Amino acid sequence: MSRRKMIYEGKAKILYEGPEPGTLVAYFKDDATAFNAQKKAVLEGKGVLNNRISEFIMGHLNALGVPTHFIRRLNMREQLVREVEIIPLEVVVRNVAAGSIAKKLGLTEGEALPRSIVEFYYKNDALEDPMVSEEHITAFNWAATQDIDDMIAMAVRVNDILSGMFLAVGIRLIDFKLEFGRIYDQNDNMRIILADEISPDSCRLWDAETGEKMDKDRFRRDLGNVTEAYAEVARRLGIMKDNAPATNDEGES
Ligand code: TMP
Repeated sequence: MSRRKMIYEGKAKILYEGPEPGTLVAYFKDDATAFNAQKKAVLEGKGVLNNRISEFIMGHLNALGVPTHFIRRLNMREQLVREVEIIPLEVVVRNVAAGSIAKKLGLTEGEALPRSIVEFYYKNDALEDPMVSEEHITAFNWAATQDIDDMIAMAVRVNDILSGMFLAVGIRLIDFKLEFGRIYDQNDNMRIILADEISPDSCRLWDAETGEKMDKDRFRRDLGNVTEAYAEVARRLGIMKDNAPATNDEGES
């Protein structure tokens, strides 16, 4: 698959050593998992689509001044990113009730929330990513109060940008998950930037007119046509010319 040294293998991506210090190559797999990997499948073409969609979104955010780890796409399944020290949190932003918040608080899926809500989860598979408060985050030293403020500010800005971007192509951004990492300059000053991916694996995206799900809930809930829905998201964003499943690799760069 690749001659590069593998740094880390996650559920949907593999990270390889990058061409220069401080860089990594992220390889997008076709593997899909849900419910902490209790449910697994290979969805042919998903990795290609998520690489392209994440490139598009991260590129857009970079251009608008939201710092991200994304540098450039290398080929169909790989992108060059900055190496970060991952903060062990999943930051979820919700605009509309769905998924775990609907279940936990007895809300109807599709009900608008009184305002956008930012939540934190501790990234730990063995513990099934429990929800945590700012108190837990600072007490266990996962991040400082200032870091939390920075992450919330970036998450809210990403929500504003993405909500508009998706609505313009007839898609409602229901909720999404972000991950952040730390980078250090020559003087050891630390800065937090957006990391990981933003794709239909990490967002809930509903067709604005029909309410049809265009995200990983199609896999979680066995609704079928998962990659077709991801391809439709890509097509609407103007990334893919048609919605034929993209499976060919361009080869390595
Ligand atoms: P939830 O409703 O299951 O808490 O999910 C909220 C959002 O976060 C949804 O867009 C899916 C995304 N998400 C992930 O990206 N990874 C995860 O492990 C989980 C649980 C949710």
